[in-house]
Amino acid sequence: MLGLWKTWKALEAKGIMGINRRNADYVLKYNKRHLYPIVDDKIITKERAIEAGIHVPEMYGVISTEKEIDKLHEIIGGRTDFVIKPAQGAGGDGILVIADRFEERYKTVSGKIISHEEIEHQISSILTGLYSLGGHRDRALIEYRVTPDQIFKSISYEGVPDIRIIVLKGYPVMAMLRLPTRQSGGKANLHQGAIGVGVDLATGVTLSGTWLNNKIKKHPDTTNAVDGVQLPNWHGFMKLAAGCYELCGLGYIGVDMVLDQEKGPLILELNARPGLNIQIANDCGLTHRAHAVEARLAELEAKGVQEDAEERVRFTQELFGHAHPAER
Ligand SMILES: Nc1ncnc2c1ncn2[C@@H]1O[C@H](COP(=O)(O)OP(=O)(O)O)[C@@H](O)[C@H]1O
Ligand SMILES: [Mg+2]
Repeated sequence: MLGLWKTWKALEAKGIMGINRRNADYVLKYNKRHLYPIVDDKIITKERAIEAGIHVPEMYGVISTEKEIDKLHEIIGGRTDFVIKPAQGAGGDGILVIADRFEERYKTVSGKIISHEEIEHQISSILTGLYSLGGHRDRALIEYRVTPDQIFKSISYEGVPDIRIIVLKGYPVMAMLRLPTRQSGGKANLHQGAIGVGVDLATGVTLSGTWLNNKIKKHPDTTNAVDGVQLPNWHGFMKLAAGCYELCGLGYIGVDMVLDQEKGPLILELNARPGLNIQIANDCGLTHRAHAVEARLAELEAKGVQEDAEERVRFTQELFGHAHPAER
């Protein structure tokens, strides 16, 4: 028991945020219940983003009822690649990434061949709520398949890596690059087996990573080093994430973004209860950073001023960048 207590104290000293604190002090405090649908439903998130001029993967169609499943052929049209996902899904469950057609059938990004009937069956499962939060009836959305930028070729294994940034009241506080692995089936979700790699907020250079709760420096499939990689357009990603506060109004979110070869940075989704593993990937706790932002907000409030996205990014980059000695 004493050992466990010591471990916990050591983690607390690093400012590791646990699930209870996250829920009580951040999720419940900063995320107003009536705003949840904006982030919990990917179709609504997309509509909001488009209104705000933020780029997202194009939506080809929505299927809301069993009867509408017949529309699938029409929605797909002549396209050879597309993605089907539950509007209210989470953790990568229920997502089908189709990379190609194969005779009368389809090929997933991990090379599995599936029939049109199997896709229809998958959509039917989505509609019944198999993958939705709380098991409620859901809608299936069909969208553009993202092709990752070439930069990720050496450090990734099929599928699309994504960039997750935790944003507190519009201030980006911690970032991680998530890399799909053979095990994660092309998805960048950690619980599917993807790797989480910390990112220096100031420079966009990757740090070391975490895989299945172990610390790693190399990608298990490609064996290439995952650290020391400069992510392109880093300032753009930081600003995009910061601006999602204005987009959804939720004060504590995880913003998931991808870098498409042709379309550039896109918002994939927003999360109202972002996971805590990002702290392991960064070897750094969220608590101190969150407190620093809260102190900044109190200071600004006393002066009666607010900062825009650009200023918020500058503030956290100066304070939390690994290049900066303040935190080390
Ligand atoms: N349009 C897409 N094109 C290619 N891959 C995608 C697309 N949408 C999702 N993915 C893959 O699936 C993962 C999970 O998708 P996401 O939309 O974030 O849903 P979830 O809420 O289940 O995490 C992404 O991180 C990405 O790797
Ligand atoms: Mg996600």
